[in-house]
Order: sequence, then C-alpha cells, then structure tokens
Amino acid sequence: MVDVILGLQWGDEGKGKIADYLTPKYDVVARFQGGPNAGHSLEMAGKKHVLNTIPSGIFHEQCINLIGNGVVIDPVRFMEEIKRTEAAGADVKARMLISRKANLILPTHKILDAASESAKGEEKIGSTLRGIGPTYRDKYGRSGLRIGEIFSSDFDKKYRSSIERHKALIDHYAYTDYDLEAMESEFFTALDTLRAYQFVDSEYFIHDQLISGRKILAEGAQGSMLDIDFGSYPFVTSSNTISGGVGVGLGVAPKHIGTVRGIFKAYCTRVGSGPFPSELLDARGEELRNMGREFGATTGRPRRCGWLDIVALRYAVMLSGVDELIMMKADVLSGFPEVDALVAYEQNGAVTDQVPFDQCDKSIKPVFQSHPGWSEDLTAIREESKLPDTFRNYIRWIEEKAGVPISILSVGPDRDQTILRARS
Ligand code: GDP
Ligand code: IMO
Ligand code: MG
Repeated sequence: MVDVILGLQWGDEGKGKIADYLTPKYDVVARFQGGPNAGHSLEMAGKKHVLNTIPSGIFHEQCINLIGNGVVIDPVRFMEEIKRTEAAGADVKARMLISRKANLILPTHKILDAASESAKGEEKIGSTLRGIGPTYRDKYGRSGLRIGEIFSSDFDKKYRSSIERHKALIDHYAYTDYDLEAMESEFFTALDTLRAYQFVDSEYFIHDQLISGRKILAEGAQGSMLDIDFGSYPFVTSSNTISGGVGVGLGVAPKHIGTVRGIFKAYCTRVGSGPFPSELLDARGEELRNMGREFGATTGRPRRCGWLDIVALRYAVMLSGVDELIMMKADVLSGFPEVDALVAYEQNGAVTDQVPFDQCDKSIKPVFQSHPGWSEDLTAIREESKLPDTFRNYIRWIEEKAGVPISILSVGPDRDQTILRARS
C-alpha cells in the first residue's frame, strides 16, 4: 500500500517532521509533486535540517527515498541540498532514487518566474521564485525537458532550443535583471555531479515494491489550499497537492492508496499573496509569528498568521479522503487567554460553511468561535493524559468538526516532541 501524508492548509504544516517520525514504519518515502519551493524541516538530537527536494526519510538507513515523476528538479539547488545532507551524515547516493521522468527546472525557468512576478506588480503570486510555474507550464505544454534526458547525446541541442524559446519570452517581459551565463555554468556543473546518482523508471520501481509487500509513504509538499485546482486560484502552486496527485505523481493506481494522513497546524499560516480569511493583522498575529517562529524554511519570508480555519480544513479533508489528522504546533498557543477558530464564512450577507468558488472575493468575512485557552507549557508532555483539559476539549471539538480523528499531536519541532494517541 501507498500511505499518504499531506498538508491541509497553505503549506508549512510540519510535513517534514512527521514524515521523518513515521519513516521507521516504511520501506520507501516518495515525493510526488512540487520541487524546491518546498522547505521541510526536521529536528533531531538538537540539530535542524531543511529538505527541499529530497524526501524526509533520508536520515533513516533502512529507507529508500524516491523522487517521483511528478516532481520538478533544479539541479543547482538539488546538488547543494545533497551536499548539505551528505555532510549531515546521510548516504544520499545509496538511499535516494530519482525518477527519469521528473521535469528539469532550467535556469531560464527561474528567470521567467521572476519576470512574470515582477510584471504582475501588486498582483504577484508571491512565488518562491524557484521556477516552479514556468517548469510545470512547459511540462503540460509538452515542451519540458525530463531529467532522464541528461544522459542523451542530444541533450545540449534540446536544452539550447528551450533556452532560445525562453529568451524570447523573457524579452517579451522586457526583463533584464539576470546573468544567464553564470546560471548556465552552475547548471552544467551541477548536472555533471548529479549523473553519478541513481536514476530509475520509478513507476516500475514502485510497482515492484508493491508486489513485494513493501510499505510506501508518499510525502506531499505545499498544502491543499495551494492545490492548482482547488486552492485559492490563481494564488496557488502549479501542482496537485491533494491525495489525487499521488497516483499521477508516482504512477500508482488509486486502488493502491492506503491510509491518508492530513497535517494541520493548531492555527494557520500563509506565505506569499492570496486570500487568508482567518488572518490576524493585530498583535495576536505578531505573537503567533514570534512564538511559532513563523519564517519561511525556503525563503526566510515572514509567514502571515491567523486562527485555525475549520471551513478550509473540512474542505481539505473531503478532497483528499483524509483518514487521520495530525495536529502540529499546539504548544505555540499556550498562553493565549482565548483560542479562536473560524467556523464559517460570511459572503454578501449569507453565512456558509463551504469554500466558495471565488476564494479571492474580498467581501468574504470570517465567523469565529472562541475557546478557552491554556497556559501550561506543552513541549515536555509525552502522554495525552497529562495535557490540560481545555486543550483536550479543543482537540475533541476539532475532531467533531472535521469528522476525522486526530492520531498524532506534535508539541515541539523535535522528533521526540510527538504524542501518538491511543486508538479508541
Ligand atoms: P513543512 O514544509 O510542512 O515540512 O513545514 P516547515 O518545516 O516549513 O515548517 C514547520 C516549522 O515548524 C519548522 O520550523 C518545524 O521545525 C516547526 N515545527 C514542527 N512541528 C512543530 C511543533 O509541534 N511545535 C513547534 N513549536 N514547532 C514545530
Ligand atoms: P512546503 O512544502 C508554503 C507558496 C508560495 C506562493 C505560492 C506559489 O514547505 O509546505 P510557487 O513557488 O510554488 O510558484 O509559489 O505557493 N508556496 C508555499 N508556501 N510552503 C510551501 O511548501 C510552499 N511552496 C509554495 O509562497 O504563495
Ligand atoms: Mg515548508
């Protein structure tokens, strides 16, 4: 079976921490979409590691880490990440497999991302500028380059033809703030090193693993509300982040999908532009950002903060068929006299508990429900029975609203700061 772990909000829910925590139960951890726009933090033995393209099982010896066909790869950033991860003690060459069908992020894709964002001005998506949108555009426009082609004798010719096409587009934007020569030099140097790693036809690899009864964990990137189809379009990423993305991003049939675990923070964050109905623009938002250290793992940008959005959470649970919830960062809420949660949207005088077609409609207002807070520090607690009653009531309320049980509670960034809840 392929179990899934994915984010239910706008990304940065803590997928990296939980994927690493769950890895001992799995033989393979596989990424199925996204690319270096992701920043997944893992903390163990007092050390923090940030992964962008490498799956979060890499620090476990027994685990194969697969980068699926649905992922997009920037060789320059990827090689930096590999070196960093190897220096931290992981044998990446032995433990990581790369799908030959993963698409390549070319230097000009990154320039195009920057050119497009700067042309949009105030309307910009707030992209991570990693070239994600332009690379997926080429993939679906049937003009992309797949990483397996770096072994082909006509790679240079195909590369040149893409670059020429992109240059015309960059000129169209009248964008000049780049040094393509320097970027190309880095790109080809990175490719030279990358060729020594393991490339596979990952759909066959996964299939063989399934036949042999091995257990696979598909690790999502971004979050459900950034999904290209169901997120707050156009303020989204360019891939399907929901469980439906697993089949196409790895080449596994839907019947092989097992347990789907959805991760959410006890509050919400969003980085980049776009609607955020429960956003707190006051001192409480600032406090959440400081207490939760809400600064991007990839770009360092401050994350926008707000209360938990139950309407969005229920939507994400529905879209991915989530079986179990994992609640992160409840420790950050300690000390708030009241903890609010958004329970409905008000749009043009009508109240709804559904995510509207136009999520960007500026008239959408939040309807909040307040809960008593808790002052106890949760970070050292490892048993559910020791958690404050007000917090346990809050968890029960969320489970009722979402219609799905919470199976894991995270009370700090470290691997060990995790409470596995007893199944009833
Ligand atoms: P991801 O992209 O979903 O993997 O999440 P990120 O790594 O971008 O952001 C999550 C941040 O919260 C990281 O800095 C983690 O180290 C941290 N973190 C994860 N779980 C917890 C938790 O339960 N409590 C606290 N305080 N921090 C956490
Ligand atoms: P992880 O996996 C949070 C956001 C960007 C921007 C929008 C589009 O760490 O949760 P893109 O670069 O994909 O074209 O940007 O999506 N975004 C993320 N926000 N976490 C992420 O990944 C994100 N990946 C992209 O900020 O608003
Ligand atoms: Mg992140």
